[in-house]
Amino acid sequence: MEQQLNDLRQTAMAELQDASDMEKLTEIRVKYLGKKGSLTSLLKGLGSLSPEERPRVGQLVNVVRAAMEEALTAKTEAIKEAALEKRLASEKIDVTLPGRKAAIGHKHPVTLTMNRIKEIFMRMGFSIEEGPEIEQDYFNFEAMNLPKDHPARDMQDSFYITEEFLLRTHTSPVQARTMQKTEPNQPIRIISPGKVFRRDYDATHSPMFHQVEGLVVDKNVSFSDLKGTLEMFVHEMFGDNVGVRLRPSFFPFTEPSAEVDISCVMCHGQGCRVCSGTGWLEILGSGMVHPHVLEMSGYDPNKVSGFAFGMGVERIAMLVYGIDDLRLFYENDLRFLRQF
Ligand code: DAH
Repeated sequence: MEQQLNDLRQTAMAELQDASDMEKLTEIRVKYLGKKGSLTSLLKGLGSLSPEERPRVGQLVNVVRAAMEEALTAKTEAIKEAALEKRLASEKIDVTLPGRKAAIGHKHPVTLTMNRIKEIFMRMGFSIEEGPEIEQDYFNFEAMNLPKDHPARDMQDSFYITEEFLLRTHTSPVQARTMQKTEPNQPIRIISPGKVFRRDYDATHSPMFHQVEGLVVDKNVSFSDLKGTLEMFVHEMFGDNVGVRLRPSFFPFTEPSAEVDISCVMCHGQGCRVCSGTGWLEILGSGMVHPHVLEMSGYDPNKVSGFAFGMGVERIAMLVYGIDDLRLFYENDLRFLRQF
């Protein structure tokens, strides 16, 4: 049996010597050291030896196994090394070639504008409040003073999901959500940025666009607070030279309501195609929060008052960057996007 072991060791080593790739090495490992390999079968013959011989032969089996394993490991290393040498010899790398620049993207103009708006209001002490894009009819309309058959609902052609849920048509529902989760009559000073959805599509309307809503509620909040805040915003956003005007308007959730215009950024008030010859551009809607809106969300209009506003982010981005077609924002044309 000792003879058999030594023979086995010799043939295995010889085969190993000749092996030149990994497949062959695996084959040898299985053939000699595997579960059904030669060494294992020899081990089974141990039982037929006399008790004196057994330990000695057993030990020899271990020595042979260890030697074979060591040789296998060494050969594996050698083959790997040879492969690497070969690759290095054939592969030519020109380290003087200029590298390829990793294409790192940048922010979309709508995101840039959104961030700028947030930054301006945060500096004025506003915090950010978010609301769901799939909204309840109750928050989107009812709590904003637009009951079921209110004609003003038609101004915002909506995507309904069920009778009760729709894609929100504006960020105004966050006003009601914020008041309802705040202790009644406690001060609020928030903006709410996000996506809104309407059944519209042309050069100035997209079925999805972005708005930033604002809400301030406290004791003695007045119309002059609204005006001061929005003037400050306009000057930060468009520059100190831009004129601001408030024009009477109507929204169901504010009373009185005002639309805010800025002097035309293209013609500086002279009148041009962009401002349809008026010299003014409308940028947002605003007003004093309607008493009924406060009431419906648990606030007491006899104790507190508030103002609110809502603006379209794409519209502002178009004016800031001088873009004349809103659809450019959504076409993902890199020739357009790379300019920002
Ligand atoms: N929600 C209005 C819209 O989408 C915009 C708006 C107007 C928001 C007046 C307001 C506001 O908070 O006071 O057309």
